[in-house]
Amino acid sequence: MIRRQRMSLNAVIFGLGSHEAGWRMPESNALASTDPNYWTDIAQRAEHGGFDALFLGDVLALQQSADRHLSDAMDPLVILSAVAAVTERIGLIGTASTSFDHPFHLARRFASLDHISKGRAGWNIVTSSNALEAQNFGVDAMPDHAERYGRAADVTQAALALWSSWQQDARLADKKAGIYLDPTKIGSIDHNGPFVRSRGPLNVPRSPQGRPLLAQAGASEAGRDFAARYADMVFTVQSNLEEAQDFYRDMKARAARHDRDPESILVYPGIVPIAAATRKQAEERLAQMNGFMVVEHVLAKLSEFLGTDLSQADLDAPLPDLNPANETTNQSSQSRFDVLVGIARRDKLSLRQLLMRLASGRGHLLAVGTGTDIAATMQEWFDNGAADGFNVMAPVMPADLQSFVDRVIPVLVERQLFTVDHQPLLRQRLGLSML
Ligand SMILES: Cc1cc2nc3c(=O)[nH]c(=O)nc-3n(C[C@H](O)[C@H](O)[C@H](O)COP(=O)(O)O)c2cc1C
Repeated sequence: MIRRQRMSLNAVIFGLGSHEAGWRMPESNALASTDPNYWTDIAQRAEHGGFDALFLGDVLALQQSADRHLSDAMDPLVILSAVAAVTERIGLIGTASTSFDHPFHLARRFASLDHISKGRAGWNIVTSSNALEAQNFGVDAMPDHAERYGRAADVTQAALALWSSWQQDARLADKKAGIYLDPTKIGSIDHNGPFVRSRGPLNVPRSPQGRPLLAQAGASEAGRDFAARYADMVFTVQSNLEEAQDFYRDMKARAARHDRDPESILVYPGIVPIAAATRKQAEERLAQMNGFMVVEHVLAKLSEFLGTDLSQADLDAPLPDLNPANETTNQSSQSRFDVLVGIARRDKLSLRQLLMRLASGRGHLLAVGTGTDIAATMQEWFDNGAADGFNVMAPVMPADLQSFVDRVIPVLVERQLFTVDHQPLLRQRLGLSML
């Protein structure tokens, strides 16, 4: 396995940060999720700090127990368009679902973002899994996992064809002759798939990167296979080095089986950093956040992930034995089930401690300490075939993003693991070949 020369870093934003209770911290502006200045401020901090890209997640519904945590969410592409106007270099990755959008809309919106940002757009492809999302679109439940991935492949193929429906030099704009387009350089796609149809061509000219970067977070067999076929970037939840290495190897091998260069698919585990001047201060900050956790809400979320009602369980005892049959009943969170049960058993956590781990980073690697401590963990994963880059999921925005920039990035630079790359296109910065 070849270690890449340069680690890649994405700044991930879900709401006001990855900690469930971040909005309750004394410093937080709890209403910031609809404030454009909140988003542009974070984007500028991330850009100045050297991050390659900003990544916005998305769920198409107000979530369960929305009265006890922040789950409102504006459209990521609208936010990223505003961010594009006030940044110059940082990549802009937005989430959109293949289950509820037509490929023509998706291809058009992301090609537009690529133009508006001059070649910095990326699409995090999700299939959506939550019944609340389905109900917002008039159906009672999501189709099963296999059908969702069948549709995702069909939609993605149609979008790829639409992006390819224009050649680079199709616009002649010949004022004298009165010829705007060369009709031989654009063409219909006549996509006629099992789920979607589209004639094409797209009504947006070829974008600076040819198409946006494609990101995906496949964890199941079908999900990993999808990522191995289509994704430039794979996002993953890993909390332990050996398992992260297995995942990394598996993704590179799958890419090779699809006749792709394993170097053309980049693996990004998530890391939740709390960096401070001393370990004690970092731990105190985590304890402060955890102190704001609404136990009933996080317990309900854990029960959902584990397919088991834990509302009556003893919070100070270990996680009770779970019926393994439940592992397969909730197809969408099979992998999260394994990660969470693995953390609980390996670290011998009480149920309350497991709730804190879930609240602080949804099962992602939690890194609490000085800048050097956190950089050392990242180096260990990067040097040992577990990561090409990281999704940096600051628990409370903007403070923990800023501490990462101030305390961790300088150590990564000093150790020659990371440099700020100024090439104009996101693809170039990530070392991916041009299309
Ligand atoms: C870092 C990360 C970010 C994700 N962001 C979203 C998101 O914004 N919206 C969403 O519906 N799913 C999101 N997911 C879920 C994945 O798209 C995927 O469904 C999940 O990892 C389960 O894998 P599977 O689809 O192969 O079962 C995310 C997963 C990870 C690891």
